[in-house]
Amino acid sequence: MSKKKQRRRPNQPSGLETAQRYRRAVRAYETGNLLKARRGLQALLKGAPHHVEALVLLGRIHASAGDFDRSGSLLHKAIELAPTKAHLRLHLGEVFYQAGKEDEAIQALEAAHELDPSNLQTLDGLASVLFKHAKSQRSVELWTRARIYLERYCALAPTNLPKRWILAECYDREGEVNKRIRTLREIIDIDPDDTAASHLLAAAQGQDDATTTDVDYVRGVFDAAADRFDTELVDDLKYQVPEQIRCRVDDILPKGQSLGRVLDLGCGTGLVAEAIGDRCDWLAGVDVSSRMIEQAREKDRYDVLHVATLEDHLNETPDPYDTVIAADVFMYVGALEEVFERVRGKLTETGLFIFSTELLTEPGFQLRASGRFAHSDAYIRELAARIGFAQIQGEQMTVRMEGASALAGVLYVLRRGTRRDFECARRSRGGGEVTQGS
Ligand SMILES: C[S@@+](CC[C@H](N)C(=O)[O-])C[C@H]1O[C@@H](n2cnc3c(N)ncnc32)[C@H](O)[C@@H]1O
Repeated sequence: MSKKKQRRRPNQPSGLETAQRYRRAVRAYETGNLLKARRGLQALLKGAPHHVEALVLLGRIHASAGDFDRSGSLLHKAIELAPTKAHLRLHLGEVFYQAGKEDEAIQALEAAHELDPSNLQTLDGLASVLFKHAKSQRSVELWTRARIYLERYCALAPTNLPKRWILAECYDREGEVNKRIRTLREIIDIDPDDTAASHLLAAAQGQDDATTTDVDYVRGVFDAAADRFDTELVDDLKYQVPEQIRCRVDDILPKGQSLGRVLDLGCGTGLVAEAIGDRCDWLAGVDVSSRMIEQAREKDRYDVLHVATLEDHLNETPDPYDTVIAADVFMYVGALEEVFERVRGKLTETGLFIFSTELLTEPGFQLRASGRFAHSDAYIRELAARIGFAQIQGEQMTVRMEGASALAGVLYVLRRGTRRDFECARRSRGGGEVTQGS
């Protein structure tokens, strides 16, 4: 059989010319000259409209300029021409993701995964989109789907720590305690110095002799969370402690009276300052996370901010305070004996100590699977009395949402008083249970 020679149309580039044009466009793209790359690809596609890789590259260039419609239609055309090429669907998935079309992104990435199950970029994309989707939709089904792709990713890349961390979080959301423990152990095997994994492993295993949280772990958690702390905690999780403090302050202090010189322990991004700043004469904040302090600094509500542990700061500061506040902080501290002692030492005679706890209904205090400590009312009251606080008030409240349920806590207001006040208060106090609040 004689091979029929295909005729080239006049002005139609030869295969060699097309290949050279494509290479030039790729070079321009790789050196950041997107305009030159785009023009070169458009010219190429006029003569060779079925050049799949040119369609893909032009699609990616349009996506990087935010033109997702044009990008999507170029990629769809490429997929029609080469339906079994997995990377085309991967790029399409990325474009949908950039365009905020998460469902379409998942669909395209799942199709890419079917064609090439060991492609790590596809698995990464799938896990990331599903993880984000699961978080915003609070859907266990989406957590499970994200977890399946993460398991596949981790099996192919066993030393990848960030993915293993997300996998541990998925197991946590699904209530798979044993698998979470196994994953945390694997993280420690890869990096024996990972204090976060050690802390959470102790918590997940229900270690009941834990008394402290490693500050490196706390710093790491809050440095990483600082940028999204306010939106995630306040908007998504309905965190309420600063507003609750404001209400209590308005209850106990007559209008116009101030809290005086105030120290905000574990001040974080400065939500407490926003809530009560107008009732302070002078306000200092201290936090172990420098990224949280940066956020607080931007709010410009503190007279001074320190990056330090609250324990060191209480030891080192020479200043007396009229009020010391710790909102949602003691769950990262554990045993509170030393802190109470130091706070009392820094308070003026009738100074106030206002803080919140997560409520524990059993005696003492306990490290929870969440990695945070909860404290019983009896523990707080016994400790406060032993250390010499004269008045102790505790009101039950909701700290924030945890999953679908409200996380129960207590807001305490302690007054230092004098020893004599304390003796009187002790004689007149009848039991002193937590009172039910909002
Ligand atoms: C949940 S955030 C609460 C922040 C702030 N108080 C609020 O109500 O928005 C807990 C903060 O306590 C800080 N923290 C925890 N343990 C600490 C410690 N031992 N010393 C200093 N800061 C600590 C963390 O870095 C984090 O910023």
